Amino acid sequence: MSDKALLQYQDKTFEFPVIQGSENELAIDIKTLRAQSGMITIDPGFKNTGSCESAITFLDGEKGILRYRGYSIEDLAEKATFLEVVYLLIFRELPKADALAAFQKDIVAESHVDEEMKKILDGFPKSAHPMGVLASLTSALISFNPNSVNASSDKEMYAAIVRIVAKFPVLVAWTMRKKKGLPLDYGDDSLGYVENIHKMMFKKPSQEYTKNKVIIDALNKLLILHADHEQNCSTSTVRIVGSSHAGLFASLSAGISALWGPLHGGANQAVLEMLEAIEADGGDTKKYMAKAKDKNDPFRLMGFGHRVYKNFDPRAKIIKKAADEVLNDLGIDDPILAIAKGLEKEALEDPYFVERKLYPNVDFYSGIIYRALGIPTEMFTVMFALGRLPGWIAQWKEMRENNEPIGRPRQVYIGENFRDFVPVENR
Ligand code: ACO
Repeated sequence: MSDKALLQYQDKTFEFPVIQGSENELAIDIKTLRAQSGMITIDPGFKNTGSCESAITFLDGEKGILRYRGYSIEDLAEKATFLEVVYLLIFRELPKADALAAFQKDIVAESHVDEEMKKILDGFPKSAHPMGVLASLTSALISFNPNSVNASSDKEMYAAIVRIVAKFPVLVAWTMRKKKGLPLDYGDDSLGYVENIHKMMFKKPSQEYTKNKVIIDALNKLLILHADHEQNCSTSTVRIVGSSHAGLFASLSAGISALWGPLHGGANQAVLEMLEAIEADGGDTKKYMAKAKDKNDPFRLMGFGHRVYKNFDPRAKIIKKAADEVLNDLGIDDPILAIAKGLEKEALEDPYFVERKLYPNVDFYSGIIYRALGIPTEMFTVMFALGRLPGWIAQWKEMRENNEPIGRPRQVYIGENFRDFVPVENR
């Protein structure tokens, strides 16, 4: 293998190093391109652009592989707790028992949210979308923790990380409780991280909280499957905002906004709304398949297709199985699941989807589980954010530790050339 790539333009040849990742991915290092040639590259949507070197998550879209810090998503979803995965992503290794216990203890110690935050939440109408509320609350948290983090201090980094890992579930739970008109509660220090999330979200004021193993296992799995996905839209947002040395919470709030969109995290809400609409319209999946293929119709089959998975999304496989198990265990017979399975079957046999390598993604089945767990549709993307939190933190930390330069792409200007200003009366 040559370790140099040559670019020929007119009568000049420019030389660039080729770098190789630990899973053999090759990249042309064009850091000196503009200095050498005066040219830039253009790559809308960054389909061919690596923005960083990262040691957190490996994915191979062709083979359908996803690994966090070297561990397969299948193993982690089956055998790990979400809190272990949080630790693994952020601190590089699976925690030993004492490190995990200490991490949990530190989280418990930080799990209160200033009561004043309730007033901020109070200001939102009940109709506000939970993602907007969550982004705002995460931003507001800065005012209550105003000290900026010295990224070269392990102690300060750790304190900031523990603070947000502890408080974020409270914000998520409050966001949902506000929507449902339930009192804003706190958790229970004696519960595990995921059980506590479940309790904070669902406990009714007049009832004792009862644990449900099936629900906790499903939540644990869903959160793990969403925990990181390398340089996706929201993670790139977190890294780029943080690259200006904006603080962790501000960067996370920006990431939440990026996740909100229906082409990214908002797809899980869009999938369920689509399935409900198909059901309400008589359940004719063929009609919607035809709409998805019609280039004059803006309708897309939500939950299908992925920027990097061009074979299958390994998370979708795990979630599909989990959806079946959860619905069986809870004794739910949901017609929406039948419509989802029908659509999947048709799409997997349809040349339009096969040729374009469009497969169900993680969001195709996650909404069905959230719905079975009693989570309102508008909260689905908030659940995604809860799962993605450790990934965002790990990526932000890595970016600061690597001293990455401020993210600032260039452009090819295609606007007007110089023109003289014309006063308003003469235009
Ligand atoms: N339904 C119908 N056609 C589709 C779909 C779909 N869901 N997705 C892609 N296509 C078609 C496009 O129209 C295009 O067709 P063409 O080549 O004839 O023009 C071709 O497939 C390629 O699509 P692109 O949009 O260029 O692919 P890209 O990689 O840019 O987009 C994306 C990926 C945004 C995920 C896209 O597949 C999509 O919009 N899917 C639906 C939304 C969704 O499920 N998003 C969740 C992604 S996973 C996540 O964020 C966790």
